Amino acid sequence: MAQINPSMLSADFARLAEEAAAVEGADWLHIDVMDNHFVPNLTLGLPVVEALGRATGTPLDCHLMIEDPDRWAPGFVEAGAGSVTFHAEAAAAPVRLAREIRAKGARASLALKPATPIEPFEDLLPELDMVLVMTVEPGFGGQSFLDIMLPKIRRTRQLIDRHGLPLWLQVDGGVSASTIERCAEAGADVFVAGSAVYGADDPAAAVASLRAQAEK
Ligand code: DX5
Ligand code: ZN
Repeated sequence: MAQINPSMLSADFARLAEEAAAVEGADWLHIDVMDNHFVPNLTLGLPVVEALGRATGTPLDCHLMIEDPDRWAPGFVEAGAGSVTFHAEAAAAPVRLAREIRAKGARASLALKPATPIEPFEDLLPELDMVLVMTVEPGFGGQSFLDIMLPKIRRTRQLIDRHGLPLWLQVDGGVSASTIERCAEAGADVFVAGSAVYGADDPAAAVASLRAQAEK
């Protein structure tokens, strides 16, 4: 089953609760947290996540593009996130951090920038609930999908399956009607889409049609 997670980075930040309601049928709301250190952009943090969690019934999938996730990630679980993704390049102690996220009751997920391979993290997979393979350089919505990431998606899926683990495999960046089928074919099962959903006239219909394409 494909999951479609609209990225609220492409939503109207002045109307977040309404924008969350506009994507009825979405599996999770993807929340991009940026600190202007790990990526050259600044978005939102704990108070906004907490307020949005109170305003929507859809679970929150928080993608932390920040330095020092070891310090901040557990707070996002307390703020109401059901899934917290931290970057492999930023975490000082990814195993300890994943255990802390899980102990607080959320799903723990590891994200990889385009130049970071999955192989060094193979032994960590049992500690995780999801791997996020970035299909753009993180920092901004609306970038073009990087086809060169398809082999990494495929290799990640193979590692997960070889270990017989129930991890989800998420892709994020440039996912749209014209790229989602390639991602699904390579083994992704959780699809983040920002501009392809919020840039559409009917965001809920865009979610439904992306799902149908991913499940083809
Ligand atoms: C990029 C973010 C993405 C972004 C995706 O750094 O992690 O979640 O919002 O936006 P689109 O789908 O427009 O590429
Ligand atoms: Zn993201």
